[in-house]
Amino acid sequence: MPEKEPIGVIGVGWVGLVTAACFAELGHEVHARDIVEDKVASLSHGEVPIHEPELPELVTKNAERLHFTTDMDELLENAELLFCCVDTPPTYSGDADLSRVDAVIESLGDSNEHALVMKSTVPVGTGRSIKRRRDGLAYVANPEFLKEGSAVRDFMKPDRVVVGADDDSEEFAQRVQALYEPLGAELVRTDVASAEMIKLASNAFLATKISFINEIANVSEELGADVEEVARGMGLDERIGPKFLQAGVGYGGSCFPKDVQALKQLAGNSGYHFQLLTAVVEVNELQKRRTISKLQKHLGSLVGKEIALLGVAFKPNTDDVREATSLVLAGRLHGEGANVRVYDPVAAERARAILGDARICDSALDAVNGADAVVLVTEWSEFEDLDWGGEVKRRMRTPLVVDGRNFLDREVLQAAGFTYEGVGR
Ligand code: UDX
Repeated sequence: MPEKEPIGVIGVGWVGLVTAACFAELGHEVHARDIVEDKVASLSHGEVPIHEPELPELVTKNAERLHFTTDMDELLENAELLFCCVDTPPTYSGDADLSRVDAVIESLGDSNEHALVMKSTVPVGTGRSIKRRRDGLAYVANPEFLKEGSAVRDFMKPDRVVVGADDDSEEFAQRVQALYEPLGAELVRTDVASAEMIKLASNAFLATKISFINEIANVSEELGADVEEVARGMGLDERIGPKFLQAGVGYGGSCFPKDVQALKQLAGNSGYHFQLLTAVVEVNELQKRRTISKLQKHLGSLVGKEIALLGVAFKPNTDDVREATSLVLAGRLHGEGANVRVYDPVAAERARAILGDARICDSALDAVNGADAVVLVTEWSEFEDLDWGGEVKRRMRTPLVVDGRNFLDREVLQAAGFTYEGVGR
């Protein structure tokens, strides 16, 4: 075996591409396969189809070690560790759709020399059922904890690396473990089912933390407390910690909504009613809609009102619009008879089809022109730098800002004559 183990990556979406590029950066030859020919062709020319900081640079820098292909045989010939990075979207029932994982297993043929290393987020029990169906295939669970917008950094400096394998796959588990050794992270070496649960439980816990602080925010609004102060005071308790206590317009993205639902469903399928997660999901859905009543409080009926949404992406530094609050808000505002205009530095075009009648603007200033209210949905840094007291205020019909992320400087806006509505303050 060469000094650095060659690696196969199956599915070159966001997780697969970050995984491929980072292992190449660590010195491995990486063979990455996707079924979409256009994607493989553009990646082979160094074009990265997603917005993820540091990723294009890494792909260019390691071009010699990164081999993109549509051919599964190329992976089977060149690598024994095959990282499965296909997506597992939710089905109508709320269960995870495993059809792409199934297709990957079919494509492996009957090889017993390879290990399937599962990075895709799968229900607890998936590893066991794959092993039952494909006797002899080694299986290692290796969930990812990458955040969009800082995925490269998260890969290179992980809080922990989780490797789950059962006794028959021990040798492969050690090889997977060895890949991460240069990163110096804490290792959690466990069984397959526990590794699968660590991933789902981590996301569900973080979502719970967000829904919790959002409810504290809502009650604070009623009782005159400031959730920012409350979160600071809570977060200094080491048992609680300061992260993921940012109140706002709800969580979105490709992971939390899907994984919370999947864990709730998984529990239900096994006969357990996971009450807490039911509430976490409901709180989040209501949180996305609370902005409407804040607008109505100041504007009365929204019929014919011009509302500007700043930010479409589910969070800054990504062009991902999956489960983004902006989409729910645009739909609800339209339902109330308002005219919606949106601006996002990178994500608006991606959402064009879902945004319906909303007008997509070329700049934040274009969006606020003649607006009755601005809703800050995504905390892109450029929104902080806008000339709120000058150009923005001059362009707006009514100086009303609903800051859905408590991101702007409330004092500055109020001093400039804005009516400011935050979340929980
Ligand atoms: C998440 C997990 O953090 C990551 O470990 C997992 O692998 C994939 O899912 P990601 O979806 O990229 O990552 O986004 P994250 O930064 O966790 O934020 C998720 C959502 O929660 C965003 O909509 C964000 O705006 C919201 N959020 C986050 C809050 O509303 N408040 C907070 O305090 C933190």
